[in-house]
Amino acid sequence: MGTKSKRQPIAETVDRHRLYQHAVQCPEFELDFMNTVFKARRKRAPRHMREDFCGTALASAQWVTRHRENTAVGVDLDADVLAWGEDNNVATLKPAQRKRVSLKRENVLSTGTEVQFDFVQALNFSYWILMERKQLLSYFKRVRKSLVDDGILFLDAFGGYAAHQSGTETRELDGFNYEWEQASFNPVTNLMQCYIHFGFKDKSRLDRAYSYRWRLWGAAEIRDLLSEAGFSASHMYLQAFDPETDEPLDDYICTDECEDHACWLGYIVALR
Ligand SMILES: C[S@@+](CC[C@H](N)C(=O)[O-])C[C@H]1O[C@@H](n2cnc3c(N)ncnc32)[C@H](O)[C@@H]1O
Repeated sequence: MGTKSKRQPIAETVDRHRLYQHAVQCPEFELDFMNTVFKARRKRAPRHMREDFCGTALASAQWVTRHRENTAVGVDLDADVLAWGEDNNVATLKPAQRKRVSLKRENVLSTGTEVQFDFVQALNFSYWILMERKQLLSYFKRVRKSLVDDGILFLDAFGGYAAHQSGTETRELDGFNYEWEQASFNPVTNLMQCYIHFGFKDKSRLDRAYSYRWRLWGAAEIRDLLSEAGFSASHMYLQAFDPETDEPLDDYICTDECEDHACWLGYIVALR
């Protein structure tokens, strides 16, 4: 009589940071976007980037492969995620590229301002962990001090009425499902609790692989704070929708005109 061999559940064999990078990040697109916008607005190529809330520093590792003078500094509080980034993203670079990336375990609210960057990016809404007005203002002021005279801060943001509701959005990716759950939203404080879960074809799951407690900041509030922090201008680049199908496109348009879609997504480009 044979015994049924028990396979290890897929959820126990995967690496959550690899799944996150695959499901959530697209530094190729984002670095192209930032490079193009920077060149258009500043008439020169950016070379020196700081990646705030860098996590695994995927964008930093890619930035230094794009030009032999590009440098990147990644800043994150979490030693484990930085070590993963060193081992999996930085270590795979050529030695000359590796020399141009450094990862710092620091708080973005206290990281030094003595070195100036062409641009700073804080993406995937990470700065929404700063829930108080004075904290976000202080962050923007520090970033401004860390930028060269014609430097730019790139942020992203989302909103729309669906952002004020709880719910789960699932995407099927190669070999796994990515689930974004907005578990709760308080319309008075604008605080929300979100989770990322991963599901696999053998029905095993990585529930709450990532957890985020954020304040849903409005674009107008963010832009007011950027102005208060001394940025000379801020521009919205909103994701375009296909007029026929209403599907979101990989195209971001510089405009303040926004229809009351259920959800909008965009970048905020703040000029020092
Ligand atoms: C949503 S992840 C962002 C990962 C990646 N940058 C991305 O775009 O997908 C947020 C990261 O911010 C880090 N973090 C949270 N508060 C921070 C702070 N005050 N200073 C620096 N890093 C912080 C966390 O450790 C976490 O790695």
